Amino acid sequence: MTIRAVVKGVGHYLPERVVPNSEFEKTLDTSNEWIISRSGIERRHFAAENETTSELAAHAARAALSAAGVEPNSVDAIIVATSTADNTFPSAATMVQNLIGNTKGFAFDVQAVCAGFVFALSNANALIVSGQARSVLVIGAETFSRIMDWTDRSTCVLFGDGAGALLLAAEEGQGTNADRGILSTDLNSDGRYKDILYVDGGVATQNTGVLKMEGREVFRHAVEKLAATAHTALSKANLGADDVDWVVPHQANIRIIQSTAKKLGVGMDRVVVTVQDHGNTSAASIPLALSVGVERGQIKPGDLIVTEAIGGGLAWGSVVLRW
Ligand code: UT7
Repeated sequence: MTIRAVVKGVGHYLPERVVPNSEFEKTLDTSNEWIISRSGIERRHFAAENETTSELAAHAARAALSAAGVEPNSVDAIIVATSTADNTFPSAATMVQNLIGNTKGFAFDVQAVCAGFVFALSNANALIVSGQARSVLVIGAETFSRIMDWTDRSTCVLFGDGAGALLLAAEEGQGTNADRGILSTDLNSDGRYKDILYVDGGVATQNTGVLKMEGREVFRHAVEKLAATAHTALSKANLGADDVDWVVPHQANIRIIQSTAKKLGVGMDRVVVTVQDHGNTSAASIPLALSVGVERGQIKPGDLIVTEAIGGGLAWGSVVLRW
């Protein structure tokens, strides 16, 4: 008997305020055409002034729980992937636990920036297959609008706010790659690259800081590392590109998404793309794309899905799962 971490429900939440590229033309030397041609982004959502990451996360969590038909208090663990928790501590996950009314479970955050959701999924899988939890709520939630330098046109036009959530639960499988649930994971990081994507504040500076990125360098690493990690995760599950129904990539840049799909040997008709509507929502982008992919009727039960992401650290990885 093999225990698998199987998706029971998915949901997402986007703040009400939609900001089109044209908004940035008013204050910066930029254009709608530049942003679309270099990144594929057309619009993004920004949280309201009083709306926090944990609130976005709780909305997404409730949507995933209701899709699964599961009561909040029956969940054993809550993991929030975020780099924009409301406070230095406690974790966003304990705040979500309180907001949704869960007192039974344990809760903690995972911080691997844009790769955070992949790292969180892998942790949730480990908790389930080791028997430490039967059900885990895995949430990606961010308010990157709070860590933007609004005078830096090379970064502030790229990011957005939002949240997505999956409810995973233990189920018996056959131990083959035909099972539903998480089939393999591949996680990597390399701290030598910590300075090409970072926030220049935090506890050490006693202020929150703003995001700094050497875009071209991060792009180069993304193109090189994303297809490699997806290939590694697929081969760990004895699967290949032909077996993939949907690639659900981190949504940072349409050019990175296209080049990774090409390297993987998967056509763009098998890639879920939301970057045009959400911008880069960091750890929220994959669960948002999974939820939208289901809503659009793209992702169906039994489909083989590969997720892949890279972000600050650098940290990158991939998870292969059967929906
Ligand atoms: O989610 C975490 C991982 N993050 C990523 O994966 C992001 C990776 N990087 C990227 O997506 C791309 O590098 C960017 C979208 C950030 C930039 O695209 P690029 O094709 O790499 O442009 P570039 O940085 O090479 O800049 C090209 C030019 C520069 O002008 P010069 O130096 O050639 O005169 C920039 O100053 O475009 C200029 N530029 C802009 N122009 C108009 C930079 N930002 C803007 C802007 N509007 N918003």
